[in-house]
Amino acid sequence: MTIREEIEQLKKEKNAVILAHYYVRPEVQEIADYVGDSFYLSKVAVGLKEKTIVFCGVSFMGESAKILNPEKTVLMPDMAADCPMAHMASAETIEKIRSEYDDLAVVCYINSTAELKRHSDVCVTSSNAVKIVKALPNKNIFFIPDRNLAHYIAGLVPEKNFIYNEGFCIVHEYMEVEEIQEAKAAHPEAEVLSHPECPAKVLELSDFVGSTSEIIEQAGKSDAKEFIICTESGVLYELQKRNPEKKFYFTETTPICRNMKKVTLEKVLHVLKTGENEVFVDDKLREESKKPLERMLELAK
Ligand code: 13P
Ligand code: SF4
Repeated sequence: MTIREEIEQLKKEKNAVILAHYYVRPEVQEIADYVGDSFYLSKVAVGLKEKTIVFCGVSFMGESAKILNPEKTVLMPDMAADCPMAHMASAETIEKIRSEYDDLAVVCYINSTAELKRHSDVCVTSSNAVKIVKALPNKNIFFIPDRNLAHYIAGLVPEKNFIYNEGFCIVHEYMEVEEIQEAKAAHPEAEVLSHPECPAKVLELSDFVGSTSEIIEQAGKSDAKEFIICTESGVLYELQKRNPEKKFYFTETTPICRNMKKVTLEKVLHVLKTGENEVFVDDKLREESKKPLERMLELAK
């Protein structure tokens, strides 16, 4: 039996479903039942009929799935696949800002630990942040952990007063402007599609800014035939699958999230076989961190 056949068989035996983010390896996306961006995956995770969810992504994704579905078994192929940005804020800073500002909402990018979510008023992802921030009744917005996404959203919602936190994604933060300019010079007809986790200087050079799903949709809708993609290179698999006639380029230093790439087919098979790497969130933390996640799902409707 091939590894894919073994995974298929075990999925049936164990009543399991596989969710994968667009940044994981192509062969992992291929065997997943659902592939998408962070928002899509958090919505899909609610209401699945299977008993076990194998989450091919990083820790905060599996943790959010467990928080929203406490009765399910959530397995992570690699427990060390973590998002550094998820830790780049602190409960102390949140409480300090709360004491300094009236009429404040703490808006927590879903790329964060459950501990940070529990101290927040609402979660957002890159595809629903504008809608949710606009819908909040509060004037002051403390946006954690990502400063780049915060600045991008602040530009689109000028009626709010943003307070920034110094977190960033280690992949998007280091996207080089010079390398994007080189790619533009080499492919002058190409449209530049970027993720809002990129710094402002990258977004300024871009024709379109959106989440991974939005980038993929834009590439499909656009009349352009060539694209420079400023996000993690895992999206190439879906971009090529949907648009075999179009061409996609990345910067010379290929943007790779080492954590997403820790998820391999062998590890998916291993957790399905053994039930190892189960995600646990203690009851109190789960109850408290569920509120901002559920508020996100409600406000994003
Ligand atoms: P989206 O899936 O919301 O585009 O976010 C990208 C990301 O960095 C996930 O870790
Ligand atoms: Fe975290 Fe960036 Fe990797 Fe997404 S791409 S998981 S934000 S390090």
